[in-house]
Amino acid sequence: MQETYKAEEIFKQFKEHSISEFFRRNSQMLGYSGRIRSLTTVVHEFSTNALDASEEAGILPEISVVLKELGEDKYSVEVSDNGPGIPQRIVGKALATILAGTKFHRYLQQRGQQGIGAAGCTLFSKITTGKFIHVRSSTEKESYECDITIDIKSNKPVVENLVKREGLQRGTSIQGEFANVKYERGEHGVYGYLKRTALSNPHAGITLREPDGNEVIFTRSSNELPKRPKEIKPHPLGIGVNDLVELAQRSDSRKVSSFLVETLSRVTPSKIAELRNITGNDIMEQDPKSLVWADAENLVKAFRAVKWIAPELDSLSTIGEKQIDVAIRSILNPKFLSVVERRPRVFRGGIPFVVEAGLAYGGMAGKEKKGEGGQRYAEGNVLRFANKVPLLFDGSNCAISEAANSIDWKRYGISNFEEEPVSVFVNLSSVYVPYAGVGKQAIAQEEELVDEIKLALMDCGRILQRYISGVKALASKETKYKTIMRYVGQLAADLGEITGKSSKQIEASLRILVESKYKVMEESGEGPAESEAENVAENGSDAEI
Ligand SMILES: Nc1ncnc2c1ncn2[C@@H]1O[C@H](COP(=O)(O)OP(=O)(O)O)[C@@H](O)[C@H]1O
Ligand SMILES: [Mg+2]
Repeated sequence: MQETYKAEEIFKQFKEHSISEFFRRNSQMLGYSGRIRSLTTVVHEFSTNALDASEEAGILPEISVVLKELGEDKYSVEVSDNGPGIPQRIVGKALATILAGTKFHRYLQQRGQQGIGAAGCTLFSKITTGKFIHVRSSTEKESYECDITIDIKSNKPVVENLVKREGLQRGTSIQGEFANVKYERGEHGVYGYLKRTALSNPHAGITLREPDGNEVIFTRSSNELPKRPKEIKPHPLGIGVNDLVELAQRSDSRKVSSFLVETLSRVTPSKIAELRNITGNDIMEQDPKSLVWADAENLVKAFRAVKWIAPELDSLSTIGEKQIDVAIRSILNPKFLSVVERRPRVFRGGIPFVVEAGLAYGGMAGKEKKGEGGQRYAEGNVLRFANKVPLLFDGSNCAISEAANSIDWKRYGISNFEEEPVSVFVNLSSVYVPYAGVGKQAIAQEEELVDEIKLALMDCGRILQRYISGVKALASKETKYKTIMRYVGQLAADLGEITGKSSKQIEASLRILVESKYKVMEESGEGPAESEAENVAENGSDAEI
């Protein structure tokens, strides 16, 4: 007979793991896989926090990244900013508790949204080197420095060596040691990441000190802070059951009905009456804190049965057509460029987003073109951004790549998208970007997003097509001109003989005639440049040759 085991024995093994323990085992989910990528992830997490914090405080960001090589595959990373600082009482939680931050459940377009990034770096430092991270920070009230690490079992911070300081400049500086990482000056490493960050954030001044001491300065090219994204309330159609339960737990309202009016956008007393008809009175009269999963599920279902005014769309901040134009020109130096900013849209019925796209042709555009030092300029020929943050990895899972690959580029005069000198640029901005993974390197392939990105690229494609057909027309005009001109001398001589008139005069008249019809007047800008300018005015987009 087969031996049997008692439940008590089996469940002796039962343990609860903290979220930090989970990510210790699955650090690749946070972007820590591959040495070059891991170093980029650390810089990405610290610099996105620096940009978010200074923008929220209304300060033009000045970010410095200092890398030092400590040994084989071991580096020190220090990222400093001139932002608002982190109050000392919460610095441990902010930097060493996974799922803690100021950006949760806020419908505000920011780079961070989950409260994982900074603590993920602290965790990665601990698991690869066993070291604490060192933090210096100054707010308007206090200045201090300390060492911080994460207690993996409890997901709680450990803060040591706290020292108050006098008169530090405002801002935060975080330094840590990391192993299993590597610096290479390539487009997929820290260098390429910061270069693209500078391009999509012209208001930021960024300095990188490479491990060999070389300093690279990505100069601020605009002294204007981008339009401040507006914080909005979640729309009933954009909210899931889980979010609703969490928001209800934190609510101070007395009843679910008032909680909904206060917390969500577009919920008015008359909408509550409509919802009441669907859900019944009991749910609406409850204390929100007692809202259970099944109630929340009923509410979310009821939301979908009611007609709503669309969410506010002025909550988004874009890079802007002008800046995208400058950015693409400086990376790819293309012969032709079209840039399009679409109007804001809504996905999942309630989450606003907006797509900006650019299409570059010629110059360094295209897949395998090599830059100085033989570096590739793009991952494939698609440059991807979400909320102005460059996405360098996991391209095959991304809505942007999916959209670019599903377009029939032949219709726009590009017979082979993979091979021709063509690159696309896309930035998707939203109060909530649905990333395909916690590493935030790819946007989930949701149909509404993919469709909108496709439309943006097709807008760009139409402008490009006019350029390409303009170039072809020019080329055929040029050929005709040259062919006819070859015979003008002989023809004039023959006509002179037949008519007895001066063949020189005949030749001069013939030349004027042919030139007026076929000569390509480069100086006057004849050809695609001019027609393109008209098209562009029509489309409200920017394009030059
Ligand atoms: N450089 C910084 N300046 C000010 N606050 C910061 C900085 N870095 C991190 N923080 C705070 O720490 C929190 C946690 O950061 P993080 O773990 O990266 O999560 P997220 O960015 O998703 O909120 C942020 O929400 C912010 O409040
Ligand atoms: Mg962050």
